[in-house]
Amino acid sequence: MDDREEILRDGVWAALERRNVSRRDFLKFCSVMTGALALPSRYTSHIVKALEQTKRPALVWLEFQDCAGNSESALRASHPSFADIVLDLLSWNYHETVMVPSGKAAEKSLQDTITSQRGSYIAVVEGSIPLADNGIYCTIGGRAAIDIAKEVCTNAYATIAAGTCASFGGIPAAAGGVTGAVGVSQAIAGLRLINLSACPMNGANLAATLVHYLTFEELPATDQLGRPLFAHGDRIHDDCPRRAHYDAGEFVQEWGDEGHQQGWCLYKMGCKGPATSYNCPRIQWNDGTNWPIGVGHGCVGCAEPQFWDTMTPFYQALPNVGGFGVEATAEEVGLGVIGAVAALTTVHAVGSVIRSQRAKQRADKEPVTHTVSFSSDGSAPPTTTPPESSRQALQQETESQERSST
Ligand code: SF4
Ligand code: F3S
Repeated sequence: MDDREEILRDGVWAALERRNVSRRDFLKFCSVMTGALALPSRYTSHIVKALEQTKRPALVWLEFQDCAGNSESALRASHPSFADIVLDLLSWNYHETVMVPSGKAAEKSLQDTITSQRGSYIAVVEGSIPLADNGIYCTIGGRAAIDIAKEVCTNAYATIAAGTCASFGGIPAAAGGVTGAVGVSQAIAGLRLINLSACPMNGANLAATLVHYLTFEELPATDQLGRPLFAHGDRIHDDCPRRAHYDAGEFVQEWGDEGHQQGWCLYKMGCKGPATSYNCPRIQWNDGTNWPIGVGHGCVGCAEPQFWDTMTPFYQALPNVGGFGVEATAEEVGLGVIGAVAALTTVHAVGSVIRSQRAKQRADKEPVTHTVSFSSDGSAPPTTTPPESSRQALQQETESQERSST
């Protein structure tokens, strides 16, 4: 059977047609994915064409120290057609929670995939990997998680760490943990890997990562923590619809007060949006229905490494957070991301478009917060204009990115 016949039989579009997914839903899905990847709308036709013409790679999904929240997030799209499409982007050969076979039959599916599709399947790891005491805190079929992960991930084309536990150790790695829990990249060096952190990861970001891979034949550009730029390029604080209230010094003082009812800023109630980068404000949850800050609860920073230790107490305003701290400015954080990305990532389609858009937005924007100092009473910070030289540098960067992307 040649490639074309195989695609007609088992390509993405063929699988969708078998499931009676309408052309309209398919095009809508591609359009949503374009937005999730922060690409200009003209990329939708590229995505449509790629998904029509590509073969579905096999997927192996491993679960270790986890709560299955990332599986839920990936599989629980409330719009049935979208859930079908995500399921049909790949051939799900092994997923302990949802697969029909069990026991030896299940393990045979895993071994068959590793043997017959070596170097071409996608591995997804959910949950952290315990390294203490020779990995005895998580074993499956008598094998330690670390041994299974090494075999599966080193033979895959690429590994996706789904959720903060698989990315950075997450809750099992919080202070007091005894299992020696770590993320996949800490457990196994040298993998082609992307960290879809957050607790849980947003299923839309998994779909967008897969669509990027199927369309551009490579994983999306990442930040210095191995997270996709399309999802982690901006701080929540910078995209937050309550930001105007923050800038105006309008803060919720207690749950249910008038400010809370009016949708004011949740910083004084413990919101960690200023120290968290994720695309929640843009794609939201439950098929875009709402998100934590949208329903009146502060962000707890679930997409950041060690959030369980560094972002607590969840209901108190932190005066200072290391790294991308609340004391940093939007401008400084943005430039920091760009600098790190330029040094540490491969620049390709999504990365260059995102940086171009972001630089243009900043260059066009009127004065952004330049010095943010959080006082203990949460009073509004001063705003100043960024230096002219920085605005000119951003403009030049935009022009150069636009030249290189055409
Ligand atoms: Fe939004 Fe939180 Fe920032 Fe307030 S502190 S503007 S609620 S992200
Ligand atoms: Fe997590 Fe904050 Fe979004 S808690 S889900 S990153 S708003």
